Amino acid sequence: MSKKLNILMVASEMVPFAKEGGLADVVGSLSRELVRLGHDVRVVIPRYLTINAQRFNLKLAVSHVPVPMGVIGEMGCSVWQCPIDDTEGGRGVVYAIEHHQLFSRDGGFYSNINGDGYMDNDNRFIFLCRASIELCKHVGFRPDCIHVHDWHTAAVPVLVNTDYRDEPTVGSSATLLTIHNLQHQGEFDEGVMDVLGIGWEHFHIRGLEKDGNTNLLKGGIYHATIVNTVSECYASQIQTPEYGFELDGVLRDRTDDLYGIVNGVDYEEWDPQTDKMIAANYNADDLSGKTICKADLQGSFGLPKRADVPVIGLVTRLVKQKGVDILAEAIHSLLEYDIQVVLLGTGEVWANFYFGDLPNQYPDKFACYIGYNNTLAHKIEAGADFFLMPSLFEPCGLNQMYSLRYGTIPIVRAVGGLDDTVENLNVKEDVGTGFKFDDLNVGALIDTVGWAIYTYYNQKRVMEAMIQRAMKRRFSWADAAMKYVELYNKAINKRKGN
Ligand code: ADP
Ligand code: GLC
Repeated sequence: MSKKLNILMVASEMVPFAKEGGLADVVGSLSRELVRLGHDVRVVIPRYLTINAQRFNLKLAVSHVPVPMGVIGEMGCSVWQCPIDDTEGGRGVVYAIEHHQLFSRDGGFYSNINGDGYMDNDNRFIFLCRASIELCKHVGFRPDCIHVHDWHTAAVPVLVNTDYRDEPTVGSSATLLTIHNLQHQGEFDEGVMDVLGIGWEHFHIRGLEKDGNTNLLKGGIYHATIVNTVSECYASQIQTPEYGFELDGVLRDRTDDLYGIVNGVDYEEWDPQTDKMIAANYNADDLSGKTICKADLQGSFGLPKRADVPVIGLVTRLVKQKGVDILAEAIHSLLEYDIQVVLLGTGEVWANFYFGDLPNQYPDKFACYIGYNNTLAHKIEAGADFFLMPSLFEPCGLNQMYSLRYGTIPIVRAVGGLDDTVENLNVKEDVGTGFKFDDLNVGALIDTVGWAIYTYYNQKRVMEAMIQRAMKRRFSWADAAMKYVELYNKAINKRKGN
């Protein structure tokens, strides 16, 4: 086995402590898997209000770590810790950075209850980045590689290359930046450079400057030793103007150091054979439990308990990325089919109201829960026949992979990770695990759902074979974690100049 590495992971979310999206799943599962592989893994996250010390068995690790914040001056945090869950007793620690004013808030992690981003998100996440480096100094942890995720922690590679370049603990560490979502870049006014405190010589077009602003993600892309994203398809798509969110040129500049690794699935949580949140367990050899789950799902959502009707499930943030505006346009036509649709999600205010009102118009056909609910997410994965993801873009996507495992056939737009993980049905060649469409428009969405429903009603054998193939697909974190270790080693060699 390869050399054991010291890995520092810095992120804004991590399961089970704090989750708004798939980023949390990835940080939680990947760090645990790395511990299992024998590496010394330290994960740094903010201590949000909901991260209760008792519930997570947190102990005070350091009562005061000074954190220099450029023109703001010196601030400080305390740090709480607990072990990373690992049955084989490997080494791993989660550090939660406590700063009441910055992180202990009533709303979400990034925005208030009305959905408006916090005005001081720049300071909050620069603070997290600086605190994680200062913590390494304080506890004497020398990372071989520092792995950061999305814009919130993208300042770490920048700081390592600049202010901390000659610092013995992190100065020679390699850095890996994983992009989970290019849309959010952490772009703030130019004055943020003075909070970063690294000198204005780094404010230029091949550094942190974008359109006269400070763009933290862009800085991270230029400064990280290696960059990756969460599927191969998305890694190539983000280098095009269509999916590049104006950073495609920057990513093309780094094309030689840009990789794609598809996320894994936590099969300890998402497995219909052992799932405790669903009405009955089942596997590919005996699907009778799935029929029970379907009736339970219909009952839970107040829909008529019909075994014969195809149920289409959605679990999603209700934002443009997920194609919900197209879905909103298409939904009335879709509901002309003999189907039931069950939606779980929350997001933009218009979408919450729009979808929240549909059950009044279609009480026997459309049901939803506007909000976040993990048990319902499991019930939908198990009880639906199809799972719909009409995404505008999708770096990886986790739900389609859960769906495959639950024998719930995905209907997806062929973008990013959806394209990499779902194979289109081809009846003649007897292959395929789902239904795919290329263009994001109402017609394509209706046609593809129509194709799925036609198959359900008229080609039972095709459906059965597809379910069998889907349930056999595996996206293991053990494989993905090994690919990450390869990237860490590549980054370490590159940093050493080999
Ligand atoms: P993204 O991170 O872009 O939202 P992913 O598919 O990677 O998309 O991950 C979404 C994760 O969040 C999945 O684990 C999914 O089950 C979960 N999720 C999303 N919305 C909800 C919700 N309303 N209730 C419960 N779980 C949700
Ligand atoms: C982001 C992406 C999603 C991906 C997740 C985890 O939230 O939108 O596609 O699965 O990160 O990598």
